Amino acid sequence: MSTFDPIPSDARVRALTIEVVGEPGGPATVLGVLVTSEGEVPAELGLSREALERAGFSGKADQTLVLPRPEGTTLVAVGLGERLDADSLREAAGAFARAAGKDAAIALALPEDLPIDAATAGQVVVEGAVLGRYHYEVLRSSSRATVLEHVTIVAPGQDLEAVRRGAERGRSLARATSVARDLSNAPGSLLDAPAIADLAVRIGAECGLEVEVFDKAALEEMGCGALLGVNRGSADEPRLVKISYRPEGARAHLALVGKGITYDSGGLSLKPSNPSHQQMKMDMTGAGSILAAMSVLGELGVEVAVTGYLACTDNMPDARAQKLGDVAVSRSGRTIEVLNTDAEGRLVMVDAIALAVEEEPDAVVDIATLTGACLMALGPLSAGLWANHEGLAEQVKAAAGASAESVWHMPLDRRYRKYLDSEIADVKNIGFDSAGAITAALFLAEWAGQTPWAHLDIAGPMRWESTEGYRPKGASGFGARLLAELAAGFRKP
Ligand code: BES
Ligand code: MN
Ligand code: ZN
Repeated sequence: MSTFDPIPSDARVRALTIEVVGEPGGPATVLGVLVTSEGEVPAELGLSREALERAGFSGKADQTLVLPRPEGTTLVAVGLGERLDADSLREAAGAFARAAGKDAAIALALPEDLPIDAATAGQVVVEGAVLGRYHYEVLRSSSRATVLEHVTIVAPGQDLEAVRRGAERGRSLARATSVARDLSNAPGSLLDAPAIADLAVRIGAECGLEVEVFDKAALEEMGCGALLGVNRGSADEPRLVKISYRPEGARAHLALVGKGITYDSGGLSLKPSNPSHQQMKMDMTGAGSILAAMSVLGELGVEVAVTGYLACTDNMPDARAQKLGDVAVSRSGRTIEVLNTDAEGRLVMVDAIALAVEEEPDAVVDIATLTGACLMALGPLSAGLWANHEGLAEQVKAAAGASAESVWHMPLDRRYRKYLDSEIADVKNIGFDSAGAITAALFLAEWAGQTPWAHLDIAGPMRWESTEGYRPKGASGFGARLLAELAAGFRKP
């Protein structure tokens, strides 16, 4: 296990060759042709709609039909659904890349009458193809997957330079999501808090980021009692990782705070052995998506300063573990009565939010696999969004739209605040029997204070249960593209 590379996707996506051409050619052994569910079938396929339908292909989204030929490139009809737009094209590119799963070099043909701009088309094709072919093979003794090495985009009648520019942007965004997936898929024993910090240092050196790591002794000095309380039952040290991206002449400053629970057993409030808890190695998805997003900010030419805070530890039961009824003194001095050690995410987050706010950024956006309640409310397709500032919420929604990482704006309903009142401390870490995602958001909001703040609860979309489009079953890497897009378009709210 000593040779285990936690983020093989990083090198793989960097090594991908991308070619943009006006007509088919090049190394690809398979050519995808897009077909909508209505209207004309592209002539390249040499088949009528009736013939395709007889073969069971109607052009629906996520449908593909491989058409072997006696020689030359294999053709694949790729369903787009009703229309071609950025989202359907990304999905189709993903479905195609998987249908061509044995080919290392693939080509996708765009129609001449492209209804979206050339750069966006290039971007989403690369995102879809790379993410659709994502595999987590790190821990198999021999990989079952054919690595995608080459993508050709056939874009007749388009500004090929614009498609190329978009495709390179797509590579960066797809690399961020792939790295985030690698981090989430890694078992907790392989990627504990110190390992995440070491990896952040390595990524920082490669990607022009300054990385500071705070260990247990430093966190004690800093008064981060909430994070340290969660770590008390752990055999491993916690880490608070601060990552700084500082372009020259930055026009604004965005802070990102991520939950980095490398495994959530629940602590002394031990989780029951329900299959959903097999996924708790992914409880660091928020921190992982920040690290992954920040690794591409330089490539994307982002012009705002970004500071990321990753709050990392596992949550384990042990003789020294935090007990129910213990009171943690957080970084801001605010005290927390811990009445359920499984509500640990909000504990590690508030110390990091406090540190973020102290530097007076223009906004703080946090991202956390925070509550089962949010998963119940929204399912796996959307993250919950809470904010104390409308303008910031709008910026998050715009980034969600651009990245197709959906968010749903939820109420920060202050009427529920009283359920966080503690008998002996400033606040307790659980609410009442309903609205669990809202009371968790209200808890975090106290540490954000007056700073424009938005909160993303990604408990639902951290993982896909079934393969569709560019989303193979397993860790989704949700948030990496959203946060990179947010930083790229960020203005002082
Ligand atoms: N990490 C979990 C939330 C979670 C659940 C994420 C399912 C992804 C999928 C979080 O730490 C947790 O355990 N939350 C508790 C809070 C409760 C004790 C107030 C929950 O949601 O049950
Ligand atoms: Mn928990
Ligand atoms: Zn958790």
